[in-house]
Amino acid sequence: MEALRASSSLQLSMISTRLPTTPTENLMFNLSFSSIPNSSFSSLRRTTAKSKLFSTVSSSTISTEPIDPPQPELEILTQEEKFDWFSQWYPVMPVCDLDKRIPHAKKVMGLDIVVWWDRNESAWKVFDDTCPHRLAPLSEGRIDQWGRLQCVYHGWCFNGSGDCKFIPQAPPDGPPVHTFKKACVAVYPSTVQNDIVWFWPNTDPQYKDILLKKKPPYIPELDDPSYTKIMANREIPYGYEVLIENLMDPAHVPYAHFGIMKIPNANNRPKADREGGIPLDINVQTLDIDGFLGKHQYGSSRFIPPCVYFAFPNFKSDQSNGSVSTAGTKKELSSHVAQRRALLVFICIPVSPGKSRLIWTFPRNFAVWIDQIVPRWMFHVRGNLILDSDLYLLHVEERKIMEVGSSNWQKACFVPTKSDANVVAFRKWLRKYSGGQVDWGTKFTGTLPPSPPREQLMDRYWSHCGQLPQLQCGL
Ligand code: FES
Ligand SMILES: [Fe+2]
Repeated sequence: MEALRASSSLQLSMISTRLPTTPTENLMFNLSFSSIPNSSFSSLRRTTAKSKLFSTVSSSTISTEPIDPPQPELEILTQEEKFDWFSQWYPVMPVCDLDKRIPHAKKVMGLDIVVWWDRNESAWKVFDDTCPHRLAPLSEGRIDQWGRLQCVYHGWCFNGSGDCKFIPQAPPDGPPVHTFKKACVAVYPSTVQNDIVWFWPNTDPQYKDILLKKKPPYIPELDDPSYTKIMANREIPYGYEVLIENLMDPAHVPYAHFGIMKIPNANNRPKADREGGIPLDINVQTLDIDGFLGKHQYGSSRFIPPCVYFAFPNFKSDQSNGSVSTAGTKKELSSHVAQRRALLVFICIPVSPGKSRLIWTFPRNFAVWIDQIVPRWMFHVRGNLILDSDLYLLHVEERKIMEVGSSNWQKACFVPTKSDANVVAFRKWLRKYSGGQVDWGTKFTGTLPPSPPREQLMDRYWSHCGQLPQLQCGL
């Protein structure tokens, strides 16, 4: 959570190239985490969950897998349940990072998809990235003058429903071969929610109207005009599991991001070392197939599988190191500060074994003016600098996990402190509901791609800037 708390400041102040945003920095430094309001995030619960709640252990039993296994206080007894990775909504990209003029190639859950803007229906469409003619990638194609997706190999054209509308090689007076079912492209159900394009990874017609039955997780604050938000995305050269557990792990921030992110010391605790790591009292309170809730001295966080992890900062007016208490009366500040809210939202997308995509955004309802004057690329630069600083560690760590077998994570890792409770809970969720790893269906065996040279791993141009419309990125 400390990672998240510190991350909330990253678009403002956390690196040496500083912006003139000192008042807001002070506010952000005084963030701590509060309980998650029930209304702040909604996801459809699976209606099939057969559950029986029971109270188990004290908070002291949360974090230590080998010695003191993390038992959630409330756990649902559904041992036979399996998480179905292909019956979920997946985020693809933030709308702000998609250019309507061209088709975009993306991979999610091992599926090659093309995302394109259908101006005739005013909707983003997600197709299988395979032309029905001779299987060329449609993402290399164009949007033609009638707004259709045109395959660039032989010019076949498709409308937003995947129907083939034109085969240039077919004689006009011949059979209407373009109307044949085999001339259609497979279409995935898709929607836009919270300014993100989501898709359902199954083209079977029975899922055509899946949106009526099940919706992606919804974050009201992202649609609330009183909040400011900047969204960014990046292709990551390590897998979904390592990505999400890194974001759940506050303890690495003072070390892996030393000099880049400042860690507020709310209790003015004396530093035990130069970097200032401290014991963190994280407790996981519920864990079931729908994820888990984590709480610690700075507040709460929630994992909603498969992709969403978010947390709520809290604002305390009486923090001893806070600049907030240096201006105005404490009473005035209390009521003013109490109205401030911010979220830290991380959306972690399984791309393929050893590859993932992160979408991140930190909506807040204060200091909104900052985002109106600070260019978006500054947010990108700072977020990417943080992602860079532990990228190599995580890439190598993932390979070591694969060597022992991801289902043996609990045996291979020694996690004796409560600072790892969220990570342990995630690995427990993965083991309990998915055999310890992502189920890629028939696509992959789980082996990782070859490790590229370190310089290539750190190449931010292709992982970030290459994914954005022109001129939106500052590297
Ligand atoms: S492969 Fe697409 S038109 Fe031929
Ligand atoms: Fe990190």
